[in-house]
Amino acid sequence: MAIIDDQILVIFGASGDLTERKLIPAVHNLYCRNYLPGHYAIIGIGRSQLDDKSFRKKVILENENLRNRSSKKQIEEFASLVYYQSLETSDPKSYRKLTEKLDSIYKDYSGNRNVIFYLSTPPKLYGTIAENIARLGLNNEDNGWKRLVVEKPFGYDLTSARALNQQLLDYFFEDQIFRIDHYLGKETVQNLMVTRFANSIFEPLWNRNYIHRVEITSAESVGVEKRGGYYDGAGALRDMVQNHLLQLVSLVAMEPPSKIEADAIRNEKVKIFQSLRPLSEDDVASNVIRGQYMASKIRGESVRGYREEPGVEPESRTETYVALKFFIDNWRWGDVPFYIRSGKRLPTRVSEVVIHFKPNHHHLFRRSRLLNNQNMLIFRIQPNEGVLLKFGLKVPGSGFNTETVNMDFQYNELTDKYVPDAYERLILDCMQGDATLYARGDSVEAAWEFIDPILRTWEKNQSLSIFGYPAGTWGPEHADDLIEGENMIWRQPSKNLTDDGNYCEL
Ligand code: BG6
Repeated sequence: MAIIDDQILVIFGASGDLTERKLIPAVHNLYCRNYLPGHYAIIGIGRSQLDDKSFRKKVILENENLRNRSSKKQIEEFASLVYYQSLETSDPKSYRKLTEKLDSIYKDYSGNRNVIFYLSTPPKLYGTIAENIARLGLNNEDNGWKRLVVEKPFGYDLTSARALNQQLLDYFFEDQIFRIDHYLGKETVQNLMVTRFANSIFEPLWNRNYIHRVEITSAESVGVEKRGGYYDGAGALRDMVQNHLLQLVSLVAMEPPSKIEADAIRNEKVKIFQSLRPLSEDDVASNVIRGQYMASKIRGESVRGYREEPGVEPESRTETYVALKFFIDNWRWGDVPFYIRSGKRLPTRVSEVVIHFKPNHHHLFRRSRLLNNQNMLIFRIQPNEGVLLKFGLKVPGSGFNTETVNMDFQYNELTDKYVPDAYERLILDCMQGDATLYARGDSVEAAWEFIDPILRTWEKNQSLSIFGYPAGTWGPEHADDLIEGENMIWRQPSKNLTDDGNYCEL
């Protein structure tokens, strides 16, 4: 393991939910696995009037996410690394308190003053915080590196994303800015690249000659939970597709990078975003289906509709489901349709990438009852993480009857390997200055360039339908019509990777 520099993590928006649910547990795991350097501290910044003691109690000592994972002693030791500073983020003068807090911790350090500023506040404050950090010279790298982590949403549309990039670049260099997309921290997402480029058996087939279509699903069974206020201004397209799902698309579709290095990989990814065929207004009307969940009963329990959720407008037209079909205009993918969908209150929580291979052209086994396209390679991102290959096998006995069978690998078979949580991996990478799994400014803008026309078309043509779907179902039926071809439907994934109900009866 490389030596990790002494450093301080400053979390803006520390009284928010993310700190308690993700950031603190991630750093705590790093602590338990001995990844933290000799001198390390976390300073939580928020408006609430807390002190070190009450903050430690709130986010560490009473944090259920930690209690279940480690001993009381480990938790108490970890708590001693954590501090709090209340601060008015929009008031430049208030940042002196941060300088003083940093100084009081640095006095025990002999080396460089390295700092990660982690922005987990409402996005409208990102520019202001970066500016105020810079006013006091806290971005100055003369006495140690400074990095800025920015949570999503990164912009609200193309114009705001460009403006935000510009604002941050006024105070930080691009290589100091780490735009986090937690999907990239998932082990199974990184494995997409490894499966493609470490094996010689897949890559020769990975193109328009052999692949019929690519399907990506990210389904959630939960509704908007307590985030109605934020979500109603965002919707599924901004919340999931612009970032997480397009990142998956880029990993499936990119060309092999020249090296496993941040810029080599990110250069290939941005080319995919730049090659997405722009959607015209007509394309949006026919190839983008949006929906909103309605009240229903799931396993006997009443579930409220989206418009009844706290923080949501009663007449809201925000989509909680979106499915789209699009193409990547390049040599490898010309005319291969990509289908992606994401939604809340679907039957189960599952994310997966399905590569559908073309059927063979010579049907020797005519009596076989296989579907046309039996060969699929499925990357299960979560849960029941794994990889599944589907192929035809002869049914034992007379004749040449065939059936589709599964060959699978599941991560839970790796009992001796620790699989880190996405935030744990990403925070560790940032601590080491590795931006490979973070989004670069140009690629965020290129992804918005594809999404923006969809948003504009929806805004302009208010008559474009938003279909209601009962909570607990697979979204609007119209999404099924997106997939063209006889017998071709979305794979209906269930919680278990191998159980998709697609086996043929004999
Ligand atoms: C977040 C979205 O980025 O990702 C949430 O804002 C969504 O709405 C979440 O629930 C899904 O993440 P995961 O890791 O549970 O698939």
